[in-house]
Amino acid sequence: MKKIKLLNGVEIPCIGFGTWKAPNSDITTKAVEIAIKSGYTHIDCAAIYKNEKEVGIGIKNSNVPREKLFITSKLWNDVRGYNETIEAFNKTLNDLGVDYLDLYLIHWPRPIKYHDNYIQKNRESWKAMEDLYKDGKIKAIGVSNFKIHHIEEILETCEIPPMVNQIEFHPSCLYSRVREYCKEKNIIITGYSPLANGKVFDCKELSKFSDKYNVNVAQLCIKYALQHNVIPLVKSVTEQRIKDNIKLDFIISDEDMKEIDKIITCGGSYKDSDNISF
Ligand SMILES: NC(=O)c1ccc[n+]([C@@H]2O[C@H](COP(=O)([O-])OP(=O)(O)OC[C@H]3O[C@@H](n4cnc5c(N)ncnc54)[C@H](OP(=O)(O)O)[C@@H]3O)[C@@H](O)[C@H]2O)c1
Repeated sequence: MKKIKLLNGVEIPCIGFGTWKAPNSDITTKAVEIAIKSGYTHIDCAAIYKNEKEVGIGIKNSNVPREKLFITSKLWNDVRGYNETIEAFNKTLNDLGVDYLDLYLIHWPRPIKYHDNYIQKNRESWKAMEDLYKDGKIKAIGVSNFKIHHIEEILETCEIPPMVNQIEFHPSCLYSRVREYCKEKNIIITGYSPLANGKVFDCKELSKFSDKYNVNVAQLCIKYALQHNVIPLVKSVTEQRIKDNIKLDFIISDEDMKEIDKIITCGGSYKDSDNISF
């Protein structure tokens, strides 16, 4: 699988395997094993998905050496602060059954349900992540769902800048300004819900393009993200889909990319990360 370099030289594989809504059962273990055996080397996890143990068993069962894999996880919203972050990180390592992570992200910038002074709280967590990074326990650190001002708040005091921002990305949900800003700062974008969590399949306008390239709508959307320099994180627990989602031997023309950019009917969650309730 093709890789690109993060700010610190660490290489990130260009497609990730998503695990949100994958159940905490054998289904997920099997799906992860199939994914790795099919050629995925990048697995996107999170403590809140409550399936890191099952994902970890799938990773182990694949028998692929740890250093050939790129494993991401995320700090959930109820946890902030230096010691609390180290503790949550160690739980994730333990659940996944690995001794380091390739990437660790703050999942959401401003969980108002749990914390008042979110800027200070994020900075304390970031300091813990920097120390874990310096200890070699995390190869790269980053953020998720961060708007420009949230990134600036970290940049103001950090020693090590964020290397990744993971945001929603699919037709009708482009977040162009934040992507442009991240590009200026050399922050790589990983794109979650590249299939709009399944909603792209109801978006009639996309089938014209998938028919033209003789691919399915999932393949079209995954390729669309890649051609926008976004690393798509695509989830499936269905063997054939897992395999098909990385068969991307076609190129969307510049003209068609521009046409797909204009589609506004594919939905999107459009959560305001300054005002989330979870
Ligand atoms: N940072 C964040 O806040 C955040 C938020 C959301 C997601 N994420 C990450 O991004 C990953 C992907 O996003 P997502 O889970 O929202 O959804 P997604 O990848 O956009 O879509 C997944 C859905 O599409 C179906 N699917 C996959 N391939 C298909 C195909 N070829 N044909 C038809 N249906 C297909 C899956 O069904 P089956 O599984 O039943 O096959 C599932 O229902 C997550 O799993 C997670 O790792 C991060």
